[in-house]
Amino acid sequence: MRVVAVDSVSISIRGGEVLLIMGPSGSGKTTLLSMMGCILHPTKGKVIVDGRIVNDLSEDLLPDIRKRYFGFVFQAFNLFPSLKAVENVAVVLRLKGWDKSKIREEALGLMERVGLGKRSYFYPKDLSGGEKQRVAFARALAANPPIILADEPTANLDSRTGREVLELLKRLAEDS
Ligand SMILES: Nc1ncnc2c1ncn2[C@@H]1O[C@H](COP(=O)(O)OP(=O)(O)OP(=O)(O)O)[C@@H](O)[C@H]1O
Ligand SMILES: [Mg+2]
Repeated sequence: MRVVAVDSVSISIRGGEVLLIMGPSGSGKTTLLSMMGCILHPTKGKVIVDGRIVNDLSEDLLPDIRKRYFGFVFQAFNLFPSLKAVENVAVVLRLKGWDKSKIREEALGLMERVGLGKRSYFYPKDLSGGEKQRVAFARALAANPPIILADEPTANLDSRTGREVLELLKRLAEDS
């Protein structure tokens, strides 16, 4: 069966901008984000990242584009349960080949930045939903990407914690 998940969408996003996409379940938000993040290809239309049309790029160039431009935050957090909060952030820096002492300093700094310095050595299971969400943001920031794509980052949170996470997003965009 053919499913049209996203149709007639045209948006452009500038640096420092925070864009919220709202719509009912099944309306195509995740699909749109996945296309923006070069995870899915649109059947028609163009995705342009930093002036470059990415549709035509071959599969083997896409991981580099994703790494260079995007940080992803998923609704289900996807933190590693066996790693402490700060280690979840450090993983990204280790993948980038940073040396140990620099990794520690940077990862702890990112935990501070999302307001979780005091929770750095907690395991994910000992953190609240909003705190886990913030660790996920710290991890996305560790790669220092120009664009962060977050899929329903507040869906599992109460309204106050949800507002806090949105405030954090706005602050991060302003700092960028
Ligand atoms: N791989 C797929 N194959 C076929 N249809 C799909 C696929 N992925 C999503 N869809 C359909 O495309 C539509 C959009 O899905 P999408 O996940 O983008 O919605 P959403 O707005 O993120 O919804 P939610 O708020 O529930 O997360 C839905 O009708 C869904 O059933
Ligand atoms: Mg979705």
